[in-house]
Amino acid sequence: MPGRALLMDFAVTPTSHRLADYRARGGYDALRKVLGTMKPEQVTKEVAASGILGHGGAAFPAGRKWQVIHLDDGQPHYLCANADEGEPGTFKDRWILEHAPHRLVESMAIAAYALQVRHAFVYIRGEFDLPYRRLQAAVDEAYEAGLLGERILGTDFSMDLVVHRGAGSYVCGEASGLLTSIEGRKGYPRNRPPRLTVKGLYQRPTVVNNVETLSNLSAILAMGADAFRRIGTPKSPGTQLVSISGHVARPGVYEVEFGYPVAKFIHEDCGGVLGGRALKCIVPGGISTKVLTGEEIAEVTYDHASFAKAGSGLGSGGMIVVAEGTCMVRLLQVMVRFYHHESCGQCTPCREGMGWMHRLVDGIVEGRGRPGDLERMELIAMANDGTTICGMGDACGYAVTGILAKYRDEFEHWIAQGRSKFDGRLEIGEPEAALA
Ligand SMILES: Cc1cc2nc3c(=O)[nH]c(=O)nc-3n(C[C@H](O)[C@H](O)[C@H](O)COP(=O)(O)O)c2cc1C
Ligand code: SF4
Repeated sequence: MPGRALLMDFAVTPTSHRLADYRARGGYDALRKVLGTMKPEQVTKEVAASGILGHGGAAFPAGRKWQVIHLDDGQPHYLCANADEGEPGTFKDRWILEHAPHRLVESMAIAAYALQVRHAFVYIRGEFDLPYRRLQAAVDEAYEAGLLGERILGTDFSMDLVVHRGAGSYVCGEASGLLTSIEGRKGYPRNRPPRLTVKGLYQRPTVVNNVETLSNLSAILAMGADAFRRIGTPKSPGTQLVSISGHVARPGVYEVEFGYPVAKFIHEDCGGVLGGRALKCIVPGGISTKVLTGEEIAEVTYDHASFAKAGSGLGSGGMIVVAEGTCMVRLLQVMVRFYHHESCGQCTPCREGMGWMHRLVDGIVEGRGRPGDLERMELIAMANDGTTICGMGDACGYAVTGILAKYRDEFEHWIAQGRSKFDGRLEIGEPEAALA
């Protein structure tokens, strides 16, 4: 556990997902304290004072989002936990759903009280099986124990929690696409304004937060905002569940206190690069964040300011380790194939641009690359920058320009010579023939 822990503060036992186990470790005490001693506005104030930033990728302060909801506006309010987790390389929300689902349920009850929500939803990735079963079982247990439903813990507060399964679309993880999907329509992202906190689900004020963001709330309310702020760094309080994969000796989910050295995390806590190779680069936080080379991360600490200073972001906490000898052309090909496949098609620059980008990289890999292809890719990225309804257009652009800025020679080599500088290798030891 690199640094102090908040979410992984108990060992994962075979029963950590069960209510009895969670309660034996103080679970639902924070909800009891909130309902018994605090007004809804005080809870929001405490969340704002904690400084917790969103864990879904954009790092938006949770308290600031909540403060937009007016409790006396006479409208129903909605709360949705984003458990879509479609970002390649990211699998930390899944850990929470499998091992600590009651943390999410308790935290959502706290959030629903603060925002005066009667009906809350968890939008869960359709491909998730065990996480879905564990979460639904936790919700059922909570209803049975009077922790959800009518007059929770004997108070005047009532709320219902619905688990809604998605159907496998990446854009349904985008907050407005997610709401459109819950409404029963095709999960198209929506133009803003209006903000979702003004007109969200069924055109009513709605808060969408990531699973990990919400799951921190029971700990924040139990320990108080001041104690929470003492964990992590002043600008990034708390911890991040980092899912690390790729060419790394010990892949998995680790809870990292913000401010922890990234190189130490990879080389010591995670056992270093697979096969003892040198580190070529990392994709720091899902494929929508720009790659950082082995040298660039030497001084980086795991927090938002440090990643931003290095020219990237910690995104959704999904770190992919890339060993020396890996072909970056092939890596980018996999990424743009994903974006092309997942574009919902509403915006011309994204719909046409992703396909064009994919065809260009495929052309290079198939030996049909031409001079000017790289400049065309950069122009497509530029055409998407800030011109699309949701962030996916920009995200593909970041992936492309990030890799071209640092590994352009590998693309030029393939275009000029008709073959990869690294035998098209993605997996360590994988021969070119295996990639055909
Ligand atoms: C294409 C796309 C996919 C996204 N997928 C997810 C996702 O799977 N999970 C998530 O929490 N946020 C995802 N987001 C970010 C959400 O739109 C939103 O910012 C987030 O759920 C808010 O939660 P937070 O403030 O707690 O971070 C995605 C954004 C985009 C543009
Ligand atoms: S940017 Fe792409 S994924 Fe997002 S709304 Fe537009 S077409 Fe759909």
